[in-house]
Amino acid sequence: MNYYVLTLFPDMIQQATGASILRRADQNGLITVEAVDIRSFSANKHMRVDDYPYGGGAGMVLEAESVYRALCAVEEKVGRTMRVIYLTPQGKVLNQIMVEEFAREESLVLLCGHYEGIDERVLEEVVTDYVSIGDYVLTGGELGAMVMIDAISRFSPGVLNNEASFQFESFQDNLLEYPHYTRPKIWHDRQVPSVLLSGNHKKIEKWRHQKSLERTKNRRPDLFRRSYQIFCIWYGDERIGVVAELLIKKLSRYGKVLNFNRRKLRREGGMFDQQDLVIFVFPGQPTEHSLLDELPQRLAGRNTPFILLTVGKRKYQKDEEEKLKLEKRGFSKLAVFEILSDLSKEKVEIERISLEIRKKILTIQLDM
Ligand SMILES: C[S@@+](CC[C@H](N)C(=O)[O-])C[C@H]1O[C@@H](n2cnc3c(N)ncnc32)[C@H](O)[C@@H]1O
Repeated sequence: MNYYVLTLFPDMIQQATGASILRRADQNGLITVEAVDIRSFSANKHMRVDDYPYGGGAGMVLEAESVYRALCAVEEKVGRTMRVIYLTPQGKVLNQIMVEEFAREESLVLLCGHYEGIDERVLEEVVTDYVSIGDYVLTGGELGAMVMIDAISRFSPGVLNNEASFQFESFQDNLLEYPHYTRPKIWHDRQVPSVLLSGNHKKIEKWRHQKSLERTKNRRPDLFRRSYQIFCIWYGDERIGVVAELLIKKLSRYGKVLNFNRRKLRREGGMFDQQDLVIFVFPGQPTEHSLLDELPQRLAGRNTPFILLTVGKRKYQKDEEEKLKLEKRGFSKLAVFEILSDLSKEKVEIERISLEIRKKILTIQLDM
């Protein structure tokens, strides 16, 4: 990932890659951070870049022209236009989904304001995203840019040594992570929970899940209401099973995959709740007996959101029927996605769809 930070304080930005993981990432060429000094693009012979606000009022405003010239210089150098993010308290508050979405870009421009802000006209002309790092006001956008660089870079391949360390952590499943312990076993009379010393991985996993739930419920009830137990129900050929497995891995640490090719599972069906989310992963071209025509009798939800993901172009026009059948059974449709059969692109597609699904989850209307 290449970041171009338009700022009046380039020295501050150098610190973004001054230590630890990001320094190593920078040295290994995994990320580049270039601070572009807006002042050096001033149209004024005294290198002024700010002026009084029209209409009066306190403070100064960054002029449009210097910002515009700085951006044009970057775009000319890079050879194309990029997403331009303006750091502002008036933006959408940054969250993990946004971070992962930005991480899919090759390069980003981060525009830092100062004083009272930037002339609105240049913002209208060049900005693609308005991002806030929280509901408070900073003196400038630089710290916000650094926060974004830090969070986004964790998703650049190779930046974190341990692939898993960014896979399972707070916010996956809309849960906070469980507590961590290291040596010694006893510290200030406090014992490490004995289950963690048991060597029983199943028990440890269960304990961690439980702690995540408790912690989220106590500390972040808002997040807890949006945490869903995810089930991927699939049928069809092996490849569809692979998609279901990959998808659940991306989406959830605690998700479950149910293979409905297996008669036993079909017979058992399943009863799902309001806090469950069911993703049906089905072939785009139904086999002679589409499972949707003969869904297990005992498959039912209780206002359970569902997503239909078809693998391969959806050839049949049965969406409405399917929806009705599922809705009669207590499921409510959240989204329908299609994944094409090009195996080479499958991983990228799954990544994209998992982000889309997480965004959809945020749109679920909750009964407060
Ligand atoms: C003092 S602030 C200007 C605030 C502006 N007058 C307003 O009320 O929206 C100066 C600059 O700091 C940055 N900034 C301040 N708070 C921020 C936040 N919560 N997130 C991101 N950037 C912020 C923006 O770039 C902004 O242009």
